Amino acid sequence: MKTTVTVLCENTAGVPMKIIGEHGLSILIERGEDRLLFDTGQGMSLLRNASSLGKDLSQVARVALSHGHFDHTGGLADFLDASPHATVFAHPDVFIERFAQFESPAGTQTMSIGIPFAREDLEKKGAQFDLSPALREIAPGITFTGEIPRPEGWKTWDNRLMIREGDDFVSDPFPDDGSLVLDTDRGPVLVLGCAHAGLHAIVDHVRDKTGIDHFHAILGGTHLGAGTRDDWEKALDLLESCRVEKIATSHCTGFHAASFLACQLGDRVSPAAAGVSFEF
Ligand SMILES: [Fe+2]
Ligand SMILES: [Fe+2]
Repeated sequence: MKTTVTVLCENTAGVPMKIIGEHGLSILIERGEDRLLFDTGQGMSLLRNASSLGKDLSQVARVALSHGHFDHTGGLADFLDASPHATVFAHPDVFIERFAQFESPAGTQTMSIGIPFAREDLEKKGAQFDLSPALREIAPGITFTGEIPRPEGWKTWDNRLMIREGDDFVSDPFPDDGSLVLDTDRGPVLVLGCAHAGLHAIVDHVRDKTGIDHFHAILGGTHLGAGTRDDWEKALDLLESCRVEKIATSHCTGFHAASFLACQLGDRVSPAAAGVSFEF
């Protein structure tokens, strides 16, 4: 069965079709009659871009949230206006408070960056939450990884991202970071949100749980932009060891890491910008 993956929201607009870019990510997956939305962007572009692309969100009965950051969840209320009784798949920690801390001329700034809605308000709109940390099939041929176990010594690449612990802010361990594995005619396709757990941990988890050890394609946010050149080299080795034929980077991959991958892998790499579709 053909699988169509369309980027509805991303940092840049990839087609000249009345699409707008915003910092965030949302990806629509279509397989036969089934539709699943993965993330919702931060809320400015989802409905507009879906309309421009002729995608009817009222026909989408399922949405999965890769994690609780606002740039992946902020369009959820708009989505529920279009599809009020959708099932929302996510990790139970998707609602915890999230923060970014960064230096500015005025001193250390702390910005709230979690999901901008209360669960009750979304339920009043009709949302039906299905929260679990487990790896599970959430639609035919679509597996949600659930919580990604971390290797010994794991630490985040992005020290700006925090949670609250008592009166303190501590590094966010991202228990809710999850990805999708699509079973397509061309082989397994891995769809990432922000990959805060790290590409290696995600691939290891999928391999351990499903036996899948190669991917036809990897799409989405890799968070490599917050990594070092050494991290990019390791990611490159991983992509080669997984025999990935198509890498469509976007969002938190960032210009320099995406350019590095494109220089190394040539036309196997392309941008997954808003409006771009892939067929598998
Ligand atoms: Fe993000
Ligand atoms: Fe994120």
